[in-house]
Amino acid sequence: MSKKINMEKYFAPDLDKARKRTRNIIEEVRFNLSDAHQKIGYHKTYLIHTYGCQGNVADSETMAGILELMGFSPAISEDQADVIIMNTCAIRENAENRIWGELGRLKAYKRRNPDLILALAGCMAQEENVVKRVLKTYQHVDLIFGTHNIHKIPEYIETAMFSKERVVEVYSREGEIVENLPKRRDHKFKAWVNIMFGCDEFCTYCIVPYTRGKERSRSKEEIIAEIKELAEQGYKEVTLLGQNVNAYGKDRKEDDYTFGDLLRDVNELGIERIRFTTSHPHDLDKKTMEAIRDCNHVMPFFHLPVQSGSNKVLKKMNRHYTKESYLNVLNQLKETVPGISVTTDIIVGFPFEDEDDFNETLDLVEKADFEGAFTFIFSKREGTPAAKYEDLTPEEDKKQRLYRLNEAVNAGYLRGSQRFLDKVVKVLVDGTSKHNDEILSGYSEHQKLVNFKGDPSLIGQIVNVKITVAKTWFLLGEKVD
Ligand code: SAH
Ligand code: SF4
Ligand code: F3S
Repeated sequence: MSKKINMEKYFAPDLDKARKRTRNIIEEVRFNLSDAHQKIGYHKTYLIHTYGCQGNVADSETMAGILELMGFSPAISEDQADVIIMNTCAIRENAENRIWGELGRLKAYKRRNPDLILALAGCMAQEENVVKRVLKTYQHVDLIFGTHNIHKIPEYIETAMFSKERVVEVYSREGEIVENLPKRRDHKFKAWVNIMFGCDEFCTYCIVPYTRGKERSRSKEEIIAEIKELAEQGYKEVTLLGQNVNAYGKDRKEDDYTFGDLLRDVNELGIERIRFTTSHPHDLDKKTMEAIRDCNHVMPFFHLPVQSGSNKVLKKMNRHYTKESYLNVLNQLKETVPGISVTTDIIVGFPFEDEDDFNETLDLVEKADFEGAFTFIFSKREGTPAAKYEDLTPEEDKKQRLYRLNEAVNAGYLRGSQRFLDKVVKVLVDGTSKHNDEILSGYSEHQKLVNFKGDPSLIGQIVNVKITVAKTWFLLGEKVD
């Protein structure tokens, strides 16, 4: 028999609402777990499956933090778990298809353990069509909540557990910024720190502004307090996160404090390595470039998505820059921070892209001298403007373009590796190599994967490694003093 929906809390997503931007002042509230919720998880376990970007990884750490505060402990396997949360990604159709498959697979666990609470969270939960489909054909999903109300997990779990009804609560508008959220961090010396939420860019292909709401920056005091605490706990690296991270502070005009200012302040907190992702080219200002140059803890690495090299396509994508202006900003960055490593994201097969446009992209890749890129075939996202554009390019041509683009991109990866041959680089040791226990692996300041022989006691430390072999995807070296 199918479960009823709890109508007291019922809120389904609405993309039209999510599209609208308000001038509302964003309030800040502090998370507190009520006494009633503190023991719900005793002797119970949870599992979280995370898909998508670092934003989701950070959100999963918060979900885990809240669940552990409620008394839950991590489950060893799916058949042991009392709560399973799918923290999903909606960026492309193939990302979603994978998750639909996983959701189907989890049905078996629910059959074996009817008390299991299966939750759908993250960006897919923000989509109208997804929620409709889950309600209709995925009866074994008990709980759906979105990206704006993670802090309300305790209430949702309580209702799902005790009322035995399905709980659906997805807000299409962002609410307050919630501070004081507990976190169970996955890593002992590398941490994610959200500095802003949402995106106001509305690139025509992209679902993120709908799933994550309007741009909201956290206060500098909260960010600095969080990073100070991480430094005290021995963390070596923090990655500042935002969908449009270098727009930090633009929504808090009264503060007159933007991304470059934040980098300078974070540089003084005792963290060895500071990284950030992801930046938009038209928000990359001189102040940020100079902060990277002047701050010894800010790493010489920059991910700067370009998406296309064709001005026609860039315009249709609503990217607010041209091929020429992108290259200008990039050159300015490279002049300000000599030796900086730059990577990018590129989409091929966007509806208006013809052979000439694609060749412009190849030309840009060559001129920009990227040291890496994530490359994608355009995927239609329902509700975005580009989903309505007429798409005349045959699938086979798109695949060919992706293949040709990857050849060019891979040559850039190799050049980026080769420039470190015979040089000594600093590596933050992550762990042992996937393929060999005697080999340690970690990342250099320029974000290159480095493997070398060493003792596992070095894990978590920054060591000097002399590079002896440079491959496309990694470097090999020897530890030196
Ligand atoms: N906020 C970041 C990242 C967004 S998602 C930024 O703006 O850079 C990461 C990448 O996914 C994007 O840079 C883009 O290249 C790709 N992407 C987003 N929507 C897509 C779509 N509908 N089809 C194909 N690729 C997409
Ligand atoms: Fe999507 Fe564009 Fe925002 Fe990036 S900047 S999240 S690609 S809308
Ligand atoms: Fe995916 Fe949402 Fe991140 S769509 S890429 S998980 S913001």
